[in-house]
Amino acid sequence: MSESLSFLCDRLLFVSIVLTIHFLPICNALQMETEVADETAFTYEKGTSTGPENWGKINQQWRVCNNGRMQSPVDLLDGRVEIHPDLGELKRDYKPALASVKNRGHDIAVIWKGNAGVININGTAYKLTQCHWHSPSEHTFNGSRNKLELHAVHSSSDGKIAVIGITYKYGRPDRFLAKLIPHLNSLGHEEKDLGIINPGEIKFGSRKYYRYIGSLTVPPCTEGVVWTIVHKVRTVSRDQVRILRDAVHDAMRSDVSARGLKSKL
Ligand SMILES: *[C@@H]1O[C@H](CO)[C@@H](O)[C@H](O)[C@H]1NC(C)=O
Ligand SMILES: *[C@@H]1O[C@H](CO)[C@@H](O)[C@H](O)[C@H]1NC(C)=O
Repeated sequence: MSESLSFLCDRLLFVSIVLTIHFLPICNALQMETEVADETAFTYEKGTSTGPENWGKINQQWRVCNNGRMQSPVDLLDGRVEIHPDLGELKRDYKPALASVKNRGHDIAVIWKGNAGVININGTAYKLTQCHWHSPSEHTFNGSRNKLELHAVHSSSDGKIAVIGITYKYGRPDRFLAKLIPHLNSLGHEEKDLGIINPGEIKFGSRKYYRYIGSLTVPPCTEGVVWTIVHKVRTVSRDQVRILRDAVHDAMRSDVSARGLKSKL
């Protein structure tokens, strides 16, 4: 969402009820689709005023980060999580499209500008908008964390969000990252064009997956997000993880860009 539109939405919260009734649904839909762009407003440093325990206090619109009941990430053995045997229900119809890469401070994101296609879940089409990485993984399995987690973020025409998560342990390099990494050398804080990127090259590696309804894992922590976590743990090289971490400033400060669990077993 553009700065000015965001500003307008903020203002609308305070003006007349008539306006609010007409415009608030639009603003909500717009806010649903975006993670926070100002990466300096929150941090991953535990025990500080901007750390994960306090995200809900930084901004009125982030309150759900603290008091929400459907917050992500979770442990995959949590009661909210169902395991599905077959990705057949999840139809991926991705296509190569123009993309750019951006260092958002907390993470590196690949943002599709063109039509990169959709996934269909339960009869709803969700358009692929971007993917980014967290290290270590945010979702855990029986308390154990992997080295890296990719989030592919999708949104439907009515502003609902679906995220696919893929986790990685150390091993052979990941092919999708191998293509991206040469572009990170000269990356400042400006978006950089990547040309055509095929999201079909993000491999799942298994048809089995976990499903639950949760939230964005960064502010505004919007709830109602449909999560699909691929069951198989894929591999990434140590070098690839190090390059991703070194590129973002969280690595220097706290070595972590993963939100702690929001739910206990
Ligand atoms: C899919 O649809 C069914 C039936 O309407 C509903 O109960 C279920 O929660 C939906 N699942 C997701 C992930 O949206
Ligand atoms: C989870 O971890 C506990 C403690 O290590 C263990 O006893 C239990 O069997 C594990 N559960 C699963 C499903 O792996």
